[in-house]
Parts: sequence; structure tokens; C-alpha cells
Amino acid sequence: MDHDPFVPTPDLLIHPKLELARIQPGETLFDIGCGDGRVLIAAAKNYAVRGVGIEIRPDLVARAREAVSRHALDEHIEIRQQDYREADLTQADVVILYLSRGALGQVSLKLEQEIRPGARIVTHDFDLPGWSAEREVVVVLPHGEETRLYCYRKGAE
Ligand SMILES: C[S@@+](CC[C@H](N)C(=O)[O-])C[C@H]1O[C@@H](n2cnc3c(N)ncnc32)[C@H](O)[C@@H]1O
Repeated sequence: MDHDPFVPTPDLLIHPKLELARIQPGETLFDIGCGDGRVLIAAAKNYAVRGVGIEIRPDLVARAREAVSRHALDEHIEIRQQDYREADLTQADVVILYLSRGALGQVSLKLEQEIRPGARIVTHDFDLPGWSAEREVVVVLPHGEETRLYCYRKGAE
């Protein structure tokens, strides 16, 4: 396998990620490597945002699309079968990435070049190479494991 495996965000971490990004109704959230779409679905339902998921695995794309339809969110969430290294990120207000540090290193320059000033980025477990975090939180999961979330903001050009 030449790409990161599917490891879903634990339900308990979805809202802390979205709160950390200070996501606002009407904004566009990109999940880069969206898996089964669970973060986008929770965001659309609870924060009234538009979602775009980029996912390379066809089986996960199918699962995410099916889940989006099941929640009647087809008008609010688009799942694109694509390699995120080739995705257009210019419409994002918030980008969420749950990827390995190596993969984050592959997209950090693309994010710097493409996302608009004021857009926020949230990473999980690993920081984003080349960026300085604006905020970080540690979330303690029920079995005592600590998870760190990082939030970055694209500065003015
Ligand atoms: C750790 S999982 C995170 C899933 C989801 N974002 C979540 O938080 O529940 C990483 C996801 O990235 C996808 N992925 C890995 N490399 C990718 C690539 N180059 N382009 C698009 N998706 C990719 C994997 O298939 C997997 O679904």
C-alpha cells in the first residue's frame, strides 16, 4: 500500500476538531482522505457547513456516498474520488487531515500555496511540517490515551 490506511476519527474527537477550527455555518469543510465520511456528516448536521471529501479508495468513496445519502445530505456534501495531492483546495475554509506525518509533509506546501488567507487546518496526532500551530488541544480518551489536535491558520498573502 502506498497510502495511509483508513483509521476513522473516534466519535469523541469529531466535535473537538470542529470546535478547534472555529468552524462557522455556511463555511466549506474539506476532509483530505475522508474515509467513510463520518467527520463531514457530523459537521453538516451539527454546524450547517458544506462538506467536500477527497478519498482515493473506491470502496470508501462508495461507503461515504452511501452514508451521505442515508443522512439525506447529498445537497450538502460532495465526495470526490481523487488523490488529494491532485485535489483543488482553493474553496476550503477549513481543511481537516488525519494522516501520518509523512503524508502531511507531502501536502504542507500544497496547502500553503492553495488555501485562501484565513482558512484553518486541523491535524490529528501529528503536526504539519513547515507550519506553526495557532492552537493545540490534548483530548483524553476514555481508556486514558491522550490525543493531540493542532490548528493552523493561513496568514494574509
Ligand atoms: C486515517 S484515515 C482518516 C479518515 C477520515 N478523515 C476520518 O478522520 O475519519 C486516512 C484516509 O486517507 C485516505 N487516503 C490516503 N492516501 C490518500 C490519497 N493520496 N488521496 C486521497 N485519500 C487518501 C485513506 O484511504 C483513508 O481513508
